Amino acid sequence: MRFPDGFFWGAATAAHQVEGGNTNSDAWVLEHVDGTIYSEPSNDACDHYHRYPEDIALLAQLGFNAYRFSIEWARIEPEEGEFSVAQLDHYRRMLATCHEHGIKPIVTFHHFTSPRWIARRGGWESPETAAFFGRYCERAARHLGDLITLACTINEINLPILLRQSGFLHSDEAVAGAVWRSTAARALGVEEEMFSSFPFCVRGRSVEVLLEAHKRAAMVLRAVGRFGVGMTLAMIDIQAQPGAEEVRIRAMAELYDAFLEAARADDFLGVQCYTRRRISAAGPLPPEPGAEFTQMGYEFWPDAVEASVRHANAIACVPIIVTESGIATADDSRRIAYVERVLAGVARCLQSGIDVRGYFYWSLLDNFEWLFGYGPKFGLIAVDRNTQRRLVKPSAEWLGGIARNNEI
Ligand code: BGC
Repeated sequence: MRFPDGFFWGAATAAHQVEGGNTNSDAWVLEHVDGTIYSEPSNDACDHYHRYPEDIALLAQLGFNAYRFSIEWARIEPEEGEFSVAQLDHYRRMLATCHEHGIKPIVTFHHFTSPRWIARRGGWESPETAAFFGRYCERAARHLGDLITLACTINEINLPILLRQSGFLHSDEAVAGAVWRSTAARALGVEEEMFSSFPFCVRGRSVEVLLEAHKRAAMVLRAVGRFGVGMTLAMIDIQAQPGAEEVRIRAMAELYDAFLEAARADDFLGVQCYTRRRISAAGPLPPEPGAEFTQMGYEFWPDAVEASVRHANAIACVPIIVTESGIATADDSRRIAYVERVLAGVARCLQSGIDVRGYFYWSLLDNFEWLFGYGPKFGLIAVDRNTQRRLVKPSAEWLGGIARNNEI
């Protein structure tokens, strides 16, 4: 099957996970406090901050035509209202490098990390953050906008809800009483109730702030630039056993509805999906006997992407881009098997008339996987942790070939 002309074939990264030395971010604080829930600190990550020319050149050589990466608010606005032209110039050079290699840059303005000063002021639970985020987006877009192809405002805007719902992060109460939260607040010199970091923010207080932040960002980005704007959503295919259909509907509504409805005003929606969740009337079900697991501890279930694209399309009714999907595995042949099934699902969506505009594999490099540190290997390209040497995996050549031919 041939994909539509202009289909984006790319890989994705996020600043904190690849750049290294993101010391002014809230994540850096959380990695280093007593009682940290991170298995190790991000340190130099993949040193992409300095090595992006090599990495972008590799992406192009492999056959891809697009790169999704994030710019780091903590670098661009290190203190409230103080913008760093030097850092903006850094990202300008990155964007220019993309264009030199025929790579279309898709820029994410917020990928989980915020400046320390935002975390200190209540983060995404504080209404003023929406205005701060809008101002940062506007300033950054004025400097970079002419080189941007598409912009994602907030990466996985609904992630805090997904993490709670999956039981991954326990409850709001557990977060509120966590040691890492009080030590982080102390490290930043604020009262515990003030400290808030995106993935862990309290749902009840954050959804409105996040949606308002997205709205403001989308408005200023559209006013400044000539590029399309959208948010990205963390999606999971929730599958109900007989009797659990109502539970499924409620869970999906909580996870997606407000965001998918807001996305109707956007130019596209980024769908990010990795696996499924099975539920019965009695509660969550474990994977079926014999199921394959990824290094993340969840089930190998690439078909979830097709289901998520279909659901997103049905409510948002805007063009869809698969802005992330991928697998953490030490066995690269399983990566190929995973992506093959994802792409077959994307092809079926296209055949049934859904306007899917691109596919971005997560991730370009073996990067810093948040709480899991450097254990899980999501990359198309391996990174030697001592020398930072890049090693292209067979899956990168394989997917690059598909990208070059624009067909599967
Ligand atoms: C995030 C990435 C993360 C990936 C794999 C997505 O939720 O956007 O930052 O590394 O999933 O877990």
